[in-house]
Amino acid sequence: MVEQHPFKVMVLGSSPRGLTNFGMLFQLNKLKFSGHNIRTKPTIMKKEQYQQYNDLFFNKWAPVYDALAVVLIPLRQKVAKMVNPKNKKVLDVACGTGSQSIALARRNFEVVGIDLSKQMLDIAKKKQRTDINFIQADATAIPFPDASFDVSVISLALHDMPEKNAIAVLKEMSRVTKKRGQIIIADYNTPPNWLCHKIVSTWESRYYRDYLRVGIGHFIKNANLDQHNKDYVLVSSFQIVECIKK
Ligand SMILES: C[S@@+](CC[C@H](N)C(=O)[O-])C[C@H]1O[C@@H](n2cnc3c(N)ncnc32)[C@H](O)[C@@H]1O
Repeated sequence: MVEQHPFKVMVLGSSPRGLTNFGMLFQLNKLKFSGHNIRTKPTIMKKEQYQQYNDLFFNKWAPVYDALAVVLIPLRQKVAKMVNPKNKKVLDVACGTGSQSIALARRNFEVVGIDLSKQMLDIAKKKQRTDINFIQADATAIPFPDASFDVSVISLALHDMPEKNAIAVLKEMSRVTKKRGQIIIADYNTPPNWLCHKIVSTWESRYYRDYLRVGIGHFIKNANLDQHNKDYVLVSSFQIVECIKK
């Protein structure tokens, strides 16, 4: 069961709609999920519970996500440049509002974006990129056969998932990627830049802290992937890891 506390929003100098969106965003920590504060929610959730939790979290983010994520443009470009131009078909996993998918399509890759959140995907679809296929799907069970893609990419999503889900997602990315294809993972650097961590932890969920505690290498190792190459972006606040499918 999802309980919602009444919101009280009072910010001066914003339009009523933007104001409500920002107010709701920063009130997210007051939302309750199955009786748990969203920052202390359980680490193991059933599929439907996770869908409900993810909807609750990202329905609020969706309207403001692109405005806040504008600072991530250098990361989008670096991820897209890491894709070997000889490759063609790219799967953008947990694509959200589609910014990473668009950066990839601009480099002429054939892109499919999947995400669990209808609200995030609705924003992606509004961008009207007829060259990108956006599909609502759970990345722990990617609805494509083995070796369907040359490359699979996940940007800024692992830290939003319970550890078990994150590992399952990486295993699924490996399954749908062809042999010798690329699996590219972009996320917060671990250990984090202290200042960045302090700021980011004010809005991220508990999974962000779990992610930082174990580090990106933990997920890669447990998904049986091997790190091939690594790069950093935005004063090393983020890392981009390339793995090659064995
Ligand atoms: C912070 S957003 C990142 C979006 C995008 N990749 C980007 O770079 O901006 C995290 C996304 O992960 C998605 N997500 C979380 N768990 C998922 C799952 N199991 N399957 C598919 N998408 C998932 C959320 O719905 C959300 O859109």
